[in-house]
Amino acid sequence: MLAVSLDGRLAPPEGGAAQLGGRGDRRVLEEALAWADGCLIGAETLRRHGTTCLIHAPDLLEQRARQGRPPQPVAIAVSRLGCLPPELPFFRQPLERWLLVAGQPAESPLGFLRTLPLPNWPEALAQLARLGLERVAVLGGARLARSLLEADRLDELQLTLCPRLLGGTHLWLPPGATGAGVSPWRLLEQRTLGGDEVLLRYGRGSGGSGPDRSSS
Ligand SMILES: NC(=O)c1ccc[n+]([C@@H]2O[C@H](COP(=O)([O-])OP(=O)(O)OC[C@H]3O[C@@H](n4cnc5c(N)ncnc54)[C@H](OP(=O)(O)O)[C@@H]3O)[C@@H](O)[C@H]2O)c1
Repeated sequence: MLAVSLDGRLAPPEGGAAQLGGRGDRRVLEEALAWADGCLIGAETLRRHGTTCLIHAPDLLEQRARQGRPPQPVAIAVSRLGCLPPELPFFRQPLERWLLVAGQPAESPLGFLRTLPLPNWPEALAQLARLGLERVAVLGGARLARSLLEADRLDELQLTLCPRLLGGTHLWLPPGATGAGVSPWRLLEQRTLGGDEVLLRYGRGSGGSGPDRSSS
C-alpha cells in the first residue's frame, strides 16, 4: 500500500518523506494495517522516516481487540544485513518488531523480538505464515515493492492517488523492474477519499479476488 503522486512518484526528487497522503489516505492505510498480522517495511524507509505507521483509529483498535489480536500488526523490517540505527524512534514504538535479513549479520541486531532469514520470498513468507503471520501487508518503499513483485509475491496493489506532481526519479516501481508481467490487474475497489485523493485497489490476474478484507 502506497501513497503515490499523479506522476507515480512516492517520494520527492531529493528523497525522504513526501507527506503525500491526507486524512483519507491515513484511514485506508490504518484499515489495511488492521487487516494485517504483520507489515513489511524496507530498511531505507525506516532509516528515512524513523518510525512506522501505527493504527490510531479507535474503531479499528476495538475491532482488533474483539478479534483477540494485538493492537498493532508485527512490524517486520527487511534488510540485507540488518543495519538499522538503534536510536531510531521505531525501536521505541509500542509494537512487536521482527527482522528479515537476507545476509549474515556481523552481530545479532538489537531491538527485534525475532530475526529470521530471507533466503527468498516464498520461503520467508511461508515461515512468517508458520509463525502466525498469514496476512502480510507491505508498507514500501519502492525497492521492497520491486523485490516482492519480481518474486511474484504481491497479490494486491493498494494505491492512494494524491493530487500532486513530484517529478524526479522516485517512481513507486523503480525503472528496470522485471517480472511485472503483462497481464492486467483487476480493479477490486475504488473510493474517493476526500482531499482530491482516490483509493485504487487492484488484485492479481483475472481469477482471484485478492485478500479478503471482509473478515477483518
Ligand atoms: N509514499 C509512500 O506511501 C511511501 C511508502 C514507503 C516509503 N516511501 C518512500 O520510499 C523511499 C524509500 O524507498 P526505497 O526504495 O529507497 O527503499 P526501501 O524499499 O524502503 O528499502 C530498501 C532497503 O530494504 C532492504 N531490502 C529491500 N528488499 C530486500 C530484499 N529482497 N532482501 C533484503 N533486503 C531488502 C534493503 O535494506 P538494507 O539497505 O538494510 O540492505 C534495501 O536497501 C523513501 O523516500 C520513503 O519516503 C514512500
